[in-house]
Amino acid sequence: MEKMTEKNETSDFDELTKKMEEEILEEAREIYTEKTLEEAYNPKNVGELETPSGAARVTGPCGDTLQMHIKVKENKIVDCKFITDGCGASMACGSVVTELVKGKTIEEALTVENKDVLSVLGGLPEENIHCSVLAVDTLRAALEDYKSKDKNKIRKRNKKERR
Ligand code: FES
Repeated sequence: MEKMTEKNETSDFDELTKKMEEEILEEAREIYTEKTLEEAYNPKNVGELETPSGAARVTGPCGDTLQMHIKVKENKIVDCKFITDGCGASMACGSVVTELVKGKTIEEALTVENKDVLSVLGGLPEENIHCSVLAVDTLRAALEDYKSKDKNKIRKRNKKERR
């Protein structure tokens, strides 16, 4: 009999949680596009690369940080991963940026702008625009990190060849 009560309490709690989640989602739907919610709740390419060719961690004006790793082979981005402690919008923007740059050359990736991210997401509320800027700024910093490492590699190789 006691077990029965426990079970009822659990299912009441589950129902309450479900209802709250639905209400939160309903409110979010009024603010964000369906695509943004999809990317925020199921972001792609979350994580770190073991041996990234380029890496960067940038903190935005809101105090949130986004980290991005890129793997480059023959001047093409073959993998890209990110993590963030930021808001849901930054999760969505990080996900979109990583998808946008995969397969691109370094030069092509450098032309990615936050308006490209906004266009994939179908826009963001004004107060979240900086989240898309943070994702693109982090990408650029990771690309610059790769370029400076690559330059050093070439310099070392040239030095060796001169010996
Ligand atoms: Fe800080 Fe979105 S990244 S509010």
